[in-house]
Amino acid sequence: MKTFKSHAKINIGLRIINKRPDGYHNLESLLQEISLHDDITIAKHGRDIRLRCNDPAVPLNDDNLCVRAYRLLQEHYGLKDGVEINIVKRIPVGSGLGGGSSNGATCLKAFNEIFRLDLKMNDLLVLASQLGSDVPFFIPGKTALVQGRGEVVTPVPFLNDYRILLVYPNFAVSTAAVFKYFEFGLTENPIDIKFEAVISRVGGLEDLNRYFYNDLESVVCNLYPELAEISRKLSESGAKFVSMSGSGSTVYALFEPGTDLREISKGYFKKNRVFLARPVI
Ligand code: C5P
Repeated sequence: MKTFKSHAKINIGLRIINKRPDGYHNLESLLQEISLHDDITIAKHGRDIRLRCNDPAVPLNDDNLCVRAYRLLQEHYGLKDGVEINIVKRIPVGSGLGGGSSNGATCLKAFNEIFRLDLKMNDLLVLASQLGSDVPFFIPGKTALVQGRGEVVTPVPFLNDYRILLVYPNFAVSTAAVFKYFEFGLTENPIDIKFEAVISRVGGLEDLNRYFYNDLESVVCNLYPELAEISRKLSESGAKFVSMSGSGSTVYALFEPGTDLREISKGYFKKNRVFLARPVI
């Protein structure tokens, strides 16, 4: 039996480039793995997969990305043993923090180790892309630029140290629904420069405001004005950069190390769930 940490991510900027013939969107995003994590305990057991989780919002059937990771490896490598998995969830479901995708990637890496499959980074990336758009990022994790549907992952150097205050407004947002709304052209790119081209120009945290934005943010804030209100409040609390993560619903703020985040976070506890985190580097 072994326990694996399955970390969340934040999107520092998300540009939607175009819609593809397969219905997905080509995008560009700078992703950062963060210290907020679920714990996944795995033990070999029986001939199939059995899953438990403390969060009732997590599906325990074949929709679960841990189950799909097991089935995918079973299909390709004919696993003989089953597994018993227990997930202690802290990353809220439907929060834009990649919890489900991270669980899928963590399981691929864990099964690779437990079943001694000897899969290399590239093999894992290919398998991960079959599980979902955000799953490949979590194979290397840390800091990376993602492109295509999410499957083109380019590790980049870590920007600068910071602390993160995450505000989850206690409701989930459906990624598929947000992408559908985006099609109606409610958003315009403020600046059309590739993140890839400007990463090297980012010195301090404030520089992020100059180049990085999330195309989905205005779409989601129109649907849920309370998110715009949280963003405004965070911006006024000394944050250097404030953004929604992915397709929402979490809004986060980056602060200089040494900032008293516990004090600042007090203003958000009533209606929301608040997390303090650091980047994983
Ligand atoms: O790949 P995943 O299943 O996580 O994506 C969830 C939904 O988000 C997709 O069904 C699609 O509607 C939308 N999506 C998209 N373009 C992406 C990623 C996700 O349109 N690059």
